[in-house]
Amino acid sequence: MRLTDAEKAMRDGADGAAVARAMDLLIRYGEALGAESLVETRNVCGTVTATTPFMRDFAMAKGGLDAVFSEFNLDSAEVVPVPKVRAFSSHLQLGFDPHHPLEMGLSEQVVEFYRKSEASAARMGVQMMNTCTPYQVGNVPSRGEHCAWMESSAVVYINSVLGARTNAEGRESTSAAMLTCRIPNWGYHLDGPRLATHAAQLDIEVESVEDWGLLGYWLGDWVQDRVPVVSGVTRVPNLPRLKHFGAAASSSGGVEMYHIAGITPEALTLEQALGGRAPVEVLRYGEAERRATYEKINVTGKDSEIQYVMLGCPHYTIEQIWEAAQLIEGRKVHPSCELWIFTPRAIKSLADRNGYTKIIEDAGGIIMSDSCSAMSRAVPKGTKTVALDSAKQAHYLPAILGVQAWFGSTAECVDAACNGRWNGGYA
Ligand code: F3S
Repeated sequence: MRLTDAEKAMRDGADGAAVARAMDLLIRYGEALGAESLVETRNVCGTVTATTPFMRDFAMAKGGLDAVFSEFNLDSAEVVPVPKVRAFSSHLQLGFDPHHPLEMGLSEQVVEFYRKSEASAARMGVQMMNTCTPYQVGNVPSRGEHCAWMESSAVVYINSVLGARTNAEGRESTSAAMLTCRIPNWGYHLDGPRLATHAAQLDIEVESVEDWGLLGYWLGDWVQDRVPVVSGVTRVPNLPRLKHFGAAASSSGGVEMYHIAGITPEALTLEQALGGRAPVEVLRYGEAERRATYEKINVTGKDSEIQYVMLGCPHYTIEQIWEAAQLIEGRKVHPSCELWIFTPRAIKSLADRNGYTKIIEDAGGIIMSDSCSAMSRAVPKGTKTVALDSAKQAHYLPAILGVQAWFGSTAECVDAACNGRWNGGYA
């Protein structure tokens, strides 16, 4: 790998042991990927806090949080003092919501250890956004900006909707990037891999958030980790629609980049998205594909009695919380059911100020932050069947927790929470 003089100096220890470990990790990682160089990044999203009992025990045995960061973030068996980050760095979601320890089944010791870890991360200069949607709360990369982000739904959003450039990174590579402002220059940092190879033509109008989730799920299932371009979109989708679309496509497949002809920034035309080449394959998406996808996502849904409704995957926008508050105002969550809504902390505070939290809590629901049921593996006690408005969560939750899942619109989910029953259906 070709290194600049500054990169060689970091590797050789000019900026301290932690930076040298980070640079060594990036060089090994980049060489394994076949990258010829590193690219400069000033925008990193990753995970640096210690959230598991195992990490707590590790910290106690090895001498504190620097030991955890050295081992789990820098792949260094030797404990190195951890400096402040150099890149603007945002923290992704956690394995739990520390503000709702009881619901999440957390012990006081776990929360206490997490708080120390969070304070330590904040001292490093990491922005404690604690969300899978940092682009909602202050980290909005520019078109062409080289980033180093984890979290599949965030990666596909910033590549495709914002035109930023990142691969789906991991805990180690993002931590190394935080300390060095470098990441291997390959994949979606380069022009060629960003071009579409597969083309989908819509034969029906795709409008609601549910529609966009279905389309994304169908698309990911088809293209897997290739780059698709979608044509025939007649109404410009907003943030919640694109958030659900990308999250679904990255769940049923491994889509990290897509184009929508005439809408996303690198696809002013279909030809531009394809780079002037013919697509490898073209498929049409019509009523039959939509219905088949709906049935596929709902394959685990059997019982109509619902014990849990989860909204907020990816983390809800303020617009979605507003919608949920309007849908539930004046109603009550059924005594045999729970409603949990997940959103970034910063948006929760806006929901508090706007009165939406009170409306939802008066109805018996809870707004949570920092995590979600798939990440925390936490659902209300006795949950057998869940209702969801997220194709991504409907994909993962049955596999992770063995529950049944119904996928539908937000209105159907709120009705399910209030009735304790799933009355939704294909529409
Ligand atoms: Fe976010 Fe959890 Fe979904 S981290 S994208 S809400 S699976």
